Amino acid sequence: MVLILTKEDVMSVLEMKDCIDVLDKAFTELAKGTAVLPLRIGIRPPGGIALYMPAYLKEMNALACKIVTVYKDNPNKHDLPTTIGKVLLQDPKTGEVTCIMDGGYLTAVRTGAVSGLATKYLAREDPGQTAAIYGAGVQAKMQLWGVHEARSLSKAYVHDKIPGSAEAFAVEMSEKLGIPVEATDDQDKLLSADIICTATSSPEPIFDGSKVKEGAHINGIGSHSPNARELDTVIVKRSKFIADSREGCLSEAGDIMIPLEKGEITADHIHADLGEIITGTKEARTSQSEITLFKSNGLAIQDSATAKLVYEKASELGIGTEISI
Ligand SMILES: NC(=O)c1ccc[n+]([C@@H]2O[C@H](COP(=O)([O-])OP(=O)(O)OC[C@H]3O[C@@H](n4cnc5c(N)ncnc54)[C@H](O)[C@@H]3O)[C@@H](O)[C@H]2O)c1
Repeated sequence: MVLILTKEDVMSVLEMKDCIDVLDKAFTELAKGTAVLPLRIGIRPPGGIALYMPAYLKEMNALACKIVTVYKDNPNKHDLPTTIGKVLLQDPKTGEVTCIMDGGYLTAVRTGAVSGLATKYLAREDPGQTAAIYGAGVQAKMQLWGVHEARSLSKAYVHDKIPGSAEAFAVEMSEKLGIPVEATDDQDKLLSADIICTATSSPEPIFDGSKVKEGAHINGIGSHSPNARELDTVIVKRSKFIADSREGCLSEAGDIMIPLEKGEITADHIHADLGEIITGTKEARTSQSEITLFKSNGLAIQDSATAKLVYEKASELGIGTEISI
């Protein structure tokens, strides 16, 4: 039997804190060498791109493949979202597919969770910190949830280039998290934050890196192609740079690839992978004034670990529909 989980099913069982905890284990496995993470495979049918993201985590017993498609004309021509994702979970012992679940909400939560995880290990630890979120879309909301879970924020700022969307974000997220959230275009306010998340669709740098305050922690999650970047060279150079995966960053992240190509930094500017920080192989923050920067491109281990978590919770609670294929 295969368990089918809709977006609503996934939403009803997936909590940010649990997701941060399983990602902690998944990145530990990646650092220890017990994870299998092939590079994602891309196919370009007419009108879009289909990405296949498999990963196996031995100790977590999690084997899954996410299929994500990006079809830019979907909303106008077919009344469908641009990005569609499904995750197929397998039993590693038999290979049998045990669950097929919606991947949209799961992707947003696991992307927020990896920023929460990086924040937990890299941000300063003093209480009452503030956050600034660039972008007010789907990912941005989960970024705020993820960092709030890691540091119990006292206040958050949000900025988006589309008028009104930051205001709507502020109302929704203030209610969800129980903290003040202020929509603003004031860069000084945004860059005075202790924790900054960039979760926009911008291909160009979105703030002046010289204005980020000392001691800040940044999570950059929006851009993930060689020619696009949300972060300027100044902030990359000022920061201790931590990658979700060094290999991924050097093949997908314009934030680091563009300054590398221009000869403004060298590849050894990447201080560590997140897993190396978690396992203590590489040092995290060493001072209150250091700026730390975590760059996420999104890894299939995040999807496999999160899908296993969702499946176990749904099975325990009797959520979803079982079918025989
Ligand atoms: N790292 C990962 O694992 C991961 C996972 C999923 C999505 N993403 C990426 O995250 C980005 C955001 O995804 P989403 O689903 O939230 O998209 P979305 O379209 O819902 O939101 C993006 C928002 O960014 C805003 N924006 C664009 N340029 C801006 C600028 N210069 N300043 C402020 N706001 C700006 C847009 O107005 C929009 O509201 C995309 O680039 C997506 O590919 C990354």
